[in-house]
Amino acid sequence: MDYNKLFAEEIVKNLDGTMSLESIMGLVEKPKFDGQGDLAFPCFSLAKSQGKAPHLIAGELAERIKHPVFEKVAAAGPYVNCYLKKSVVSKDTLQTILEERAAYGVSDLGQGRNITIDFSSPNIAKPFSMGHLRSTVIGNSLAKIVEKVGYIAVGINHLGDWGTQFGKLIVAYQKWGDEAAVKDNAIPELLALYVKFHEEAKDDPGLEDDARKWFWQLENGDLEAEELWTWFKDESLKEFSKIYELLEVDFDSYAGEAFYNDKMAATIELLKSKELLTESQGAEVVDLTEEGLPPFLIRKSDGATLYGTRDLTAALYRKENYHFAKSLYVVGQEQTLHFRQLKLVLKKMGYDWSDDMAHIPFGFILKDGKKMSTRKGKVVLLDQVLKDVIELAEKNIEERNPALANKAETARMVGVGAVIFHDLKTERQNNVEFSLEAMLRFEGTTGPYVQYTHARACSILRKSGMTAEEITAVGLDDSYSWEVIKDLIAFPEMIQKSFEQSEPSVIARYAIELAQDFNKYYSHVKVLEDDEHLEGRLALVFSVTVVLKESLRLLGIHAPDEM
Ligand code: ARG
Repeated sequence: MDYNKLFAEEIVKNLDGTMSLESIMGLVEKPKFDGQGDLAFPCFSLAKSQGKAPHLIAGELAERIKHPVFEKVAAAGPYVNCYLKKSVVSKDTLQTILEERAAYGVSDLGQGRNITIDFSSPNIAKPFSMGHLRSTVIGNSLAKIVEKVGYIAVGINHLGDWGTQFGKLIVAYQKWGDEAAVKDNAIPELLALYVKFHEEAKDDPGLEDDARKWFWQLENGDLEAEELWTWFKDESLKEFSKIYELLEVDFDSYAGEAFYNDKMAATIELLKSKELLTESQGAEVVDLTEEGLPPFLIRKSDGATLYGTRDLTAALYRKENYHFAKSLYVVGQEQTLHFRQLKLVLKKMGYDWSDDMAHIPFGFILKDGKKMSTRKGKVVLLDQVLKDVIELAEKNIEERNPALANKAETARMVGVGAVIFHDLKTERQNNVEFSLEAMLRFEGTTGPYVQYTHARACSILRKSGMTAEEITAVGLDDSYSWEVIKDLIAFPEMIQKSFEQSEPSVIARYAIELAQDFNKYYSHVKVLEDDEHLEGRLALVFSVTVVLKESLRLLGIHAPDEM
């Protein structure tokens, strides 16, 4: 039940059409202080249009509004404060969640339309960086959030599997490479070859020419070049898929940059026919001077295409094949200019749907306040980080609950969940400090804390001996349960907000608040006492398990029943 809307409707009824339901709903807010009720309506804009003092209007409105769900409606200065009737509202809310379960909070905003989400998108033959980890967990969560509000998510891994660096890699491999070593330890070996290439090229400029030649051969279908490239790509994907398996992330498409090779000529033709290609120092570009941005590079003087050419082609391909309602790119903030240019070029081409494309940027992962670097051969191997965190979680569980049945599986859920939650609880544009200890704490604002609260609520239900089917909600009116009920009511709104802002942190923070309010409730109220409110309290505990589990699912995290 949307109580904001109900309150707004009651206000509208008493205004004789001077303000629309929509604009009133936009103004209804949470009162700033305790004791001022549950909903507040400020009368300032009404006062302006009616030429009356706001406190007079508030007084009149408060006098007139009556509804069985409202305990009391009272004016406080320029505000109309509404006090919900706890017993009615709590019963109604709990009954809804008992019935809807995991579907609680679902909406049909998207009406089955597609949203493409370009996320993760690591570069072949290079380590999976911390930035790619952020893109992966944010994108994966966004995919779940958009589906919750009725869209279909199309997850695309736009692999960085093309570019002049493959010419360099081929040269380096032919000169210094070792097949067995690459098979054994692909990414560090390939990275080492790449680093060596750059070192040697300082003294031997001929290497760069060789690299350019090999990349040209690759672009023109040379068999030897293609065979090596395919091999590098397969070995890299094997490594990446270890990470995806641990995180339980999958994609609808792995169409990376190379996928667009045979489609770029058409893009260039299209640009030409629209008279948008100009020459600049031998290269072909789309001029963006009018828009105040540097030119967007389409083709280099040697005929080679670029990252931007492939993204332009990919955008056209995605529109044509997925008919997206929105197209999201979960990519670090250092590519902001690139995506602004990309959208503007499409706009210049006459495609208004470029307005539906959005870059979803995010900050860095820091270690001791410094950017975690994967360059200079200093590789942080992510699947190792994940394995370490799972091991730590296992130790933790061993100490807390040695009798637990499936410890290894639970440790995986807790360890991986800790890493994901740590990332998603921060607004994505901010930087995140990397700390295994901080992630794994069972107290504070962590994934394990939310999971543990969920498991605790599950255990109360087990103790009660009752199943959700047997519980009938009854109204509750104490202040501790009211805090929890208000959180439960807010869930659909939170989903909506996280969708609108493409911001999983809204849900992560919400889950922490719900967990905290539930723990407060649990420490003050005897849930299992046999009185007339027992089923109401059990309904509340059950509802908390449902909403915590669903919140975690939307973040890409499991909620074990026991831990
Ligand atoms: N591979 C790129 C990188 O690691 C990210 C690609 C993002 N997606 C895109 N369509 N440009 O920087």
